[in-house]
Amino acid sequence: MGPLCEPADMSTPRYDLVLWGATGFTGKLTAEYLLRTYGATEPLGWALGGRNREKLERTRDELSAETGIDAGALPLFVGNGDDDASMAELAESARVVCTTVGPYARYGSGLVAACARAGTHYCDLTGEVHWMRRMIDAHEDTARKSGARIVHTCGFDCIPSDVGTWFVQREMQRRYGAPAEQVHLRVVSFAGGFSGGTLASMLNMVEEARHDPEVMRSMGAPYSLNPKDVQTGPDRSESLLPAYDRAFGQWTAPFVMAGVNTKIVRRTNALTEFSYGRGFRYDEAILTGGGPLGMAKAAGAAAAQGGGMAATTLAPVRRMLARRMPPGAGPSKAQREAGHFDLRLLAQNPNDPSQRVHARVRGDRDPGYGSTSKMLGEAAVCLAQDELGVGGGFWTPAAAMGDLLLERLPAKAGVTFEIEEPHA
Ligand SMILES: NC(=O)c1ccc[n+]([C@@H]2O[C@H](COP(=O)([O-])OP(=O)(O)OC[C@H]3O[C@@H](n4cnc5c(N)ncnc54)[C@H](OP(=O)(O)O)[C@@H]3O)[C@@H](O)[C@H]2O)c1
Repeated sequence: MGPLCEPADMSTPRYDLVLWGATGFTGKLTAEYLLRTYGATEPLGWALGGRNREKLERTRDELSAETGIDAGALPLFVGNGDDDASMAELAESARVVCTTVGPYARYGSGLVAACARAGTHYCDLTGEVHWMRRMIDAHEDTARKSGARIVHTCGFDCIPSDVGTWFVQREMQRRYGAPAEQVHLRVVSFAGGFSGGTLASMLNMVEEARHDPEVMRSMGAPYSLNPKDVQTGPDRSESLLPAYDRAFGQWTAPFVMAGVNTKIVRRTNALTEFSYGRGFRYDEAILTGGGPLGMAKAAGAAAAQGGGMAATTLAPVRRMLARRMPPGAGPSKAQREAGHFDLRLLAQNPNDPSQRVHARVRGDRDPGYGSTSKMLGEAAVCLAQDELGVGGGFWTPAAAMGDLLLERLPAKAGVTFEIEEPHA
C-alpha cells in the first residue's frame, strides 16, 4: 500500500516542509522546535512524516502537551522508507524534506535519490562520510539538473565547524582583504549525551568498514568528500595523539567529530571555488589545559578514544552497546537543558601572524540533540523559505546557506558566532 496523507482529499499536498522521522528521538525534538518557532500552520506549511500512523498521532498529541501549542492541524505523512514509490511520493509532496531517519546508510538512500529526481530540497543529520560519498557519486548530476539542493550534516556535525569557519573567513576577508591560510577549531567545553540512533549509526559504520575497504578509505582520507578531481591538499588525516598547541598555549586531545567536520569544511572550500585558498589547512581538537595536568588529560582522553574505537571493532561489544542504548533512547530534558557547547576558532596566516581572527561559537543546549534539533530546523526552513545563491547539487551547510545561517541561528536557535579580540 502506498503512503497515506492527511487530509485525505489532498492527493498531492505541497508542503513547504516534511519532517521525516518525526517519531524518533531527534525527530521529535526537531518537531518541537518547529512548532514552538513557526506554529502548526502559518507561516510554514509543514507535516510530520514517519512509517507508523499511530506513533505519528501519538507524537502529535505529545507535541501539543509539551509545548502548549495545538499541533492538531499538523498533517501526517505516512510512508515506507524501504519503498521507492513511497519515497518518490514523499519527495513530490514537499519543497523540502528534512530527515532524522538513521542510520542513513541503512535507511536513507531511497529518499536522497527521490529528492534528487523530484527537485526537492533535502537536509539531514548524517555524519556517515562513506554514505555521503556514495550519495554524491550516485545523484549529483540528477540533483544539478532537477534543482534539488541536498545538504547533509545539518546538526552539531557539521554546522558549528562549517559555518564557524565561514564566519572567521568572512571576517579575515573584511579585515585583511584575503582569507586565512589556516583555521584551527578548538573545543573548550561541551556537555550532553548520546542517543540510540547516533550509536546505531556509528556501529553501522564500523560494521560496513570491516567488509568494505572503500568505506575505511573515505573515512580516513582528508579530502574524500571533495569533488573527485580535487581530492588532494596540504592536510593529513586527523591525529589520534595528544599534542601541544602553541597558538592556544594548551594541550589538545583528538576530537571525535573531527573526522567528518574537517572533510565538510574542506568540501565547502572546494565547492566555493577555493574561496579559502588552494593551500587552505583546517584542523580540530579538544583543549585540555596547560602544564602537566593538561598533558595528562590529553593523554587520558586520547587513550580513552582510541580504546573505545578499538573496542567497537569487536562484535560482542557492539551488541552490548546496542542493547544498552536502543533506538529512540537519548538524553533527558534536564540533561539537554543543562547542556552546552563552547568552541573557539583561530584563523591565521602562518607567514604573517599579525593577520589573525579569533572567534567563539556557542550553543545554549546539549550539542547532539537540544542544539542539533534547532540547527536542523533552521537549515530546513532556510531551504524552504530563503533566497539561496546556489542551484541544485550536493552542498555543505556553509556553501549553500552560510550567510543565512549566520543570521538565523543566533536569532532563533541559541547558537552564536562572535569575533573575539586576541589575548594580549
Ligand atoms: N549530526 C548530529 O549532530 C546528529 C545528532 C543527533 C542525531 N544524529 C543522527 O540522526 C539519526 C537519528 O538519530 P535518533 O537518535 O533520533 O534515532 P532514533 O530515535 O532511533 O529515530 C530513528 C527514526 O527513524 C525511523 N525509522 C527507522 N527505520 C525506518 C524506516 N525503514 N522507514 C522509515 N522510518 C524509519 C524511526 O521510526 P519509528 O519511530 O517508527 O521507529 C525513527 O523515527 C542517526 O543517524 C543519528 O546518528 C546526528
